[in-house]
Parts: sequence; structure tokens; C-alpha cells
Amino acid sequence: MSIAYTPITPAIGARVEGVSLSNITAGDFERLYAIWQRHHVIVLRNQELTNPQFERFSAMLGELDPPPNQGAGRKSVPGHPNLYVVSNRKDGTGEPIGALGDGEAQWHTDMSYLARPPFASMLWSIELPDAGGDTCFASMPAALRSMPQQLVERIERIMIKHDGTYDSGGNVRKGVTPTDDPMHSPGTPHPVVIEQPETRERTLYLGRRRNAYIPGLSLQDSEALLDEIWGYATAPQVTMRHQWRLGDVVLWNNFTTMHRRDAFPADQFRTLHRSQIKGKYVPTAAAQEERA
Ligand SMILES: [Fe+2]
Repeated sequence: MSIAYTPITPAIGARVEGVSLSNITAGDFERLYAIWQRHHVIVLRNQELTNPQFERFSAMLGELDPPPNQGAGRKSVPGHPNLYVVSNRKDGTGEPIGALGDGEAQWHTDMSYLARPPFASMLWSIELPDAGGDTCFASMPAALRSMPQQLVERIERIMIKHDGTYDSGGNVRKGVTPTDDPMHSPGTPHPVVIEQPETRERTLYLGRRRNAYIPGLSLQDSEALLDEIWGYATAPQVTMRHQWRLGDVVLWNNFTTMHRRDAFPADQFRTLHRSQIKGKYVPTAAAQEERA
């Protein structure tokens, strides 16, 4: 079996074949990692896995990050405290077994309100609805390259405060007072143009649009500049769409991508298991481009 891959779009994503994650060798892992570094999202179809095998593969990327303790509590895979359940299914008592429900999740990168956000996340599909629930990804290096130079020069010098109030399903995080005031909501500032810490590739780092704020600007100016940035960051030519099949594993880089999810019918079930790699890096401003 030898690894082969096909780019999904010129900007983002690669479909990788010839790898069984259940017993991946160190050599194949190295090749897979190199493909991932270049394409930011990798999709592996038809993976026959158990939870311990999924956990073992995930841990090859780094120390695992247990599920966040949200308003609804931790949603772990039973017996696997490091794996997170993303599901709209409920248990016998009516309690959701996982996070995020059946609604749309808007563009975001995971947990960027932390000073040292997770570097990578991975989803593995367990059960799927007949339609809906696609996950889309956007390439932040491609979005940065698509911007006019004047805009790049402007945003190289600024930070965005990444909101810590809401999760990607729009739910209030545990212990936080709900607010829709971007200037005063809790959060962490990060530079807008950072380096991917392992490849040094220049990339945008945006977090999520809701309650985002550019310190030092009036709210009106901050909103206008953020809308302009988000226009490039979510343009169709920098994005890809993943339609889930059973047995898919999708791995993404949180420093170089954003993702979103379509809603799906409330009377159907969608369950995925997620692993996340603990933050190893602090997002660091990229050196300003040399210009003639
Ligand atoms: Fe997410």
C-alpha cells in the first residue's frame, strides 16, 4: 500500500488514499503530515477504526486536549475522556450525548479565545443524516494572498480580540456572562497576520466574526474592517466543501484554516467523534513583507 493524494481545490484540501489509520506506520505518518502541512486539510475515506485506534492516531500529532467544559458539560466518548462527541442525539433522559445540536455553525477556528489555541483538530464520522451537515473549510494563507497589498499592509500591524463568549453553535461558554458588545466581551487579542509556526507560511488568523473587535478602533471602524477581511477569508475560491460519508476522517490545521457547518434535519442523527491537539504554539505576528 502506498500513499497517494489528490488536491481538493487549488487553495485547500487533499484527499489521501492508501493509508489505514488503524495501523499507520511512522513512515506513512511522516508522509501524511507533509501533505497536511501543504494542503491544511486532509480527507481520508473508508477508515475502519475503533475509538482506541482513532485516539492512538490522534496522539501521534501531539498531546490530546480533552473536550471543553461547556454550558452543557463535557461531552466525551464514554470511556475516552480525550475524545469529544459532536452529535444531536439524546440519551434516555433527554440529555444530548454530544455538542452543537443540528444547527448551522458559522465560520470559525477552534478555541482561538485561548492564548495558546489548539493547533489541530480531527473529525471521524460515526452516523450521518441523508442530507445536510456538510463541513466547509477556508484557506487562510490563500485568503491573505488574495488581498490587495494596501489592505495587507494595514492589517499586518493590528490585532483582533477573539471572543470567548460563544461556542460555534452560538451557545454561551460555561462561566461567561452573555454579551453582544464586541468592545467589552471577554477574549484574547492575537495578531491578524501570523506565521504557521512549523512551516513559517504567512496566514490570516481570524477566530470568529461574532464579537470580534480590533482594539484601538471605534466599533464602527472595527466592524467595517472586519467585514472587509471576512469577505476575502470566506470567498468561494479559497474554500472547499466536505460532504461526509461514513468512515471519513478529516484533519485540519487551526492556524491556517477556518471551518463552518451546514444545518441538517432535526429528525435525523449526525454523530462524529472529534479529537483535538493541545496548543503547542502562541500565534505570532509574521514579519512584514519586504516591499520595494
Ligand atoms: Fe469547530
